[in-house]
This record gives sequence, C-alpha cells and structure tokens, in this order.
Amino acid sequence: MNLPDLKAAKIRTKKEIKIIKNDYSVPISMKKIGKDKKYYIKTYGCQMNVHDSELLCAILEDMSFTNADSMEDADIIILNTCAIRENAHNKMFGFLGRVKHLKGTKPDIICGICGCMAQEENVVDSIKSKYKWVDIVFGTHNLHKLPFILEESIKNKKQEIEVFSIEGDIYENIPVKRDSKYKAWVNIMLGCDKFCTYCIVPYTRGKQRSRTREDIISEVNELVKNGYKEVTLLGQNVNAYGKDLNTNYTMGDLLEDTAKTGIERIRFVTSHPWDFDDKMIDIIAKYDNIMPYIHLPLQSGSDRILKLMGRRYTKEKYIELFNKIKNKIPNVSITTDIIVAFPGETEEDFLDTLEVVNTCKFDSAFTFIYSPRVGTPAASMENNLTEDEKNNRLYRLNELVNKYANETNQKYMGSIVPVLLESVSEKEDNLMGYTDTMKLVNVKADKKYIGKIINVKITDIKTWSLDGEIVD
Ligand code: SAH
Ligand code: SF4
Ligand code: F3S
Repeated sequence: MNLPDLKAAKIRTKKEIKIIKNDYSVPISMKKIGKDKKYYIKTYGCQMNVHDSELLCAILEDMSFTNADSMEDADIIILNTCAIRENAHNKMFGFLGRVKHLKGTKPDIICGICGCMAQEENVVDSIKSKYKWVDIVFGTHNLHKLPFILEESIKNKKQEIEVFSIEGDIYENIPVKRDSKYKAWVNIMLGCDKFCTYCIVPYTRGKQRSRTREDIISEVNELVKNGYKEVTLLGQNVNAYGKDLNTNYTMGDLLEDTAKTGIERIRFVTSHPWDFDDKMIDIIAKYDNIMPYIHLPLQSGSDRILKLMGRRYTKEKYIELFNKIKNKIPNVSITTDIIVAFPGETEEDFLDTLEVVNTCKFDSAFTFIYSPRVGTPAASMENNLTEDEKNNRLYRLNELVNKYANETNQKYMGSIVPVLLESVSEKEDNLMGYTDTMKLVNVKADKKYIGKIINVKITDIKTWSLDGEIVD
C-alpha cells in the first residue's frame, strides 16, 4: 500500500526527469481477466483527465474487457476524479453512492478510484475508513500500472491503494483508445510548478515535465496518417513548454513544428499569461492551421488579489497581452477563467475584475466561487465573505460575462464559418461541431459530413450555441 502525502507532493528538486518508454505491460495472468466482462469509466475534470481515461480504456481492453453502455452493465467501474473544487468532490462521492447501491445487487463488481482526488490525503483516508468496499485506488503517476494493481486486489481480496506523491516522470507508449476519430488530445507537458496559492493541481499532478518534441511530433504525424483533423496540445501551462528541458526550444517552436505536420487544426490549452511570449503570438498569426482561439485565464482583475493568488502578472500586464493578441491575430476569440470571493476579496477588488471584463469583453468565461483546497496556502487565509455575498458576486459576474458572450455570438449572424462536424448533436437530429474560434454550432446536415471541415452559414443565435446550414 502507498498513501498520498501532500507535503511530499509539494517538493520540487533538480532531479532529472526520466522518460520511460517500456514500463507498460499486462501480466499474462491478467490478459484474459476481462473476457465476457465490461468496463465503465466515469470521468470528471479537465481535458487531461479526459485523455487519461482514453488511456484507461485501452488498458482495460488490453485485459479483454469491453466497453459497457451504462454503469449498470459493467463489471468494473472506474471513477477518474477531479480535485479542483469542493463540488467536484461532492459529485464524485455522490456517484460513489450509486456504485455502492449497485454493488449491493452485484457484489462482484470491481470499483476503482483514480485521478486527482486519489492524490489527496483526506480523500484516501475516508476511502480507507468509510468506503472499504472500494477495491482499488491509484493515482495520476501510475495509471499505466492498473493491470498489476488490479491483479493484487483480486489475489489478496482486499482494498489495494497505490498512490505516489512524487514529482513524476514521463511514461511513453501507454496505449490509447481515443474517443473521436477526428479530434485528438495530445499531452505536451505534465504537472505544474506554478503553485498558484488556491490550486491543488501541482500537488496532484507533480512537477512540470515537458515531453520531447520528437515524441510529440511523431504522435501528431501518426494522427495525421490516421485521418485526424484536429489536435489539442494539452498542459496546465502550455506556454511554459520546454522550460524544464534546458533548451531554447519553446512553445512557439513546438506550435510551428506541429503546424508543419499539416494537421488541419491545432488548438492548445491552457495558456498562463505569464509565459505568453511574442514569438507564440507571431506563430499563431502566421499559420492558418493554428486556430485563432486562446483560453487565457484571468482569475482576478485586482492586482492585490492576483498577488495573493501568486499569479505574477498585474491587471495592466494582462490587458496589454490581451490587446497584443487581439491586434496581431485576426478574428481571434479569447476566453477566460475567473474566480470570485478569493480570501480577502473586497467589493473594490471585485469591481476591478468586472472592469477587466468590461475592457476585454471575453468571448466567454468559466466563472467559479473560490473553493478552499486542503494543503494549499490560500486554504489558511481568512475569508470573511458570507455565502450570500459569494453567490451575489458570481451572479453579477455571470450577468456581465453572458452579456458579452451574447454580443460576440450576435456578430456571427449571417456569417460563413468553417466547422469541423464531429457527431450527431444530442438534442435534435442535427450534427454538431466547432468553428475555428471554438463556437459550438448545430448544423442541419447529412451524417456523411461527419469528420469534415465544412463552411457553414450561421442562421440563428442561441444562448450557448449557434445554428447553421451548410453552404454549397
Ligand atoms: N492551469 C490552468 C488552470 C487549471 S484549473 C491555469 O493556470 O490557467 C481550471 C480553473 O479552475 C482555473 O483557471 C481556476 O479558475 C479554477 N480553479 C482552480 N482552483 C480553484 C479553486 N481552489 N477554487 C475555485 N476555482 C479554482
Ligand atoms: Fe493551478 Fe496555477 Fe498551475 Fe494553473 S498554473 S494548474 S491555476 S497552479
Ligand atoms: Fe481536476 Fe486534476 Fe484536471 S484537479 S482540473 S482533473 S488536473
């Protein structure tokens, strides 16, 4: 058994990162363990977790499990969890209640918990004491070891917890079963060293580790060969790509090399304003296959709060960068993340945030009430705001954000935009896809267009999406 340790997770050394290319395997005894059995994975959190679940699917299929349509059909249920805010915690414990109920009727079901919550001490403590029926717990550093962890749990008939709070290495050649045939996630870096004072990610994902450009570009080349239209380069701070590799090769260079693979669309998330350099902006502007869409988290518009958050930029610097991007990249869409009610946030600080929203008029924004995370510096800062005040700030912020999102959407009315049609949309008998600028569009079109980038004329504007029809 290995338990998480938040203090150990904080440590950053100069230890060299190992790139391990041959650590994944399935023991012979586990090759057929999933024969005639099904798996179900419930994923919470960011794209990184979504991509990790794609690896888990492939690993489970390597053990002969097949995909179940619903949790009720499954013989093994894995919860890939997120720790970013308390509500992510609550959602996962709520779901765990449903699994327990199911286990009451089907006792042989195997239940596993992995992802960022598994890296948290308090979570694993409560799984050990209150959720003894959970079979396996593993962390973000060893998901490729699932076959061995499962084997141990089956052999010993007891809860198996294997979580490491380490800086981490890079494991290549873990199999992947991608959700889409057209769009792919590609990790370019793992972990985070920024330690924003509110954020749990550096503790759950380890140190910033950039994959080599050769490994990334060869993955993209393979995707191009297999007919993929779009890649999203993933990392908590993609703009800091390469800074840990002691070379001069930066995110700008990587974007350029990715553009040269000929893949039709390149996206990347997330951009920290701190590391966004001019070269990156120039490269994005230069290549048509790098999408004019940038997610640029602001977090707060108050210099005082930004400092307390450890974000290392000021409101002025953010706006300066924002304007530079807008001026150099034609038609660019910029979205953001904002946290309200950070400890000590005054009405004046909050008004500063609204002022930045009024200045930048973001295409859209993800907005959150600050949620204290155990072990982070901000969790011990005093927060005097009442729940009503917190909710009121979120409400006022959302009103403003939605006003600008709606205004941006209105500008699309009647325009012709390229859309990668990716699937049948949920509600109606339409296809859905995204514009180059990341607007969701529902399109009346035949299924034969799925997987193609098509010019679409926007015919209606909805609150969260656009409607359109194909232009011949
Ligand atoms: N690496 C990205 C953010 C990843 S987390 C970046 O630095 O921009 C996604 C978003 O969750 C953050 O941008 C932040 O707005 C929000 N978030 C993170 N920790 C939070 C917390 N403790 N409470 C509320 N929101 C939080
Ligand atoms: Fe969290 Fe900050 Fe790292 Fe983003 S940059 S993952 S907000 S610590
Ligand atoms: Fe959540 Fe972990 Fe991503 S905390 S947001 S799943 S990195």
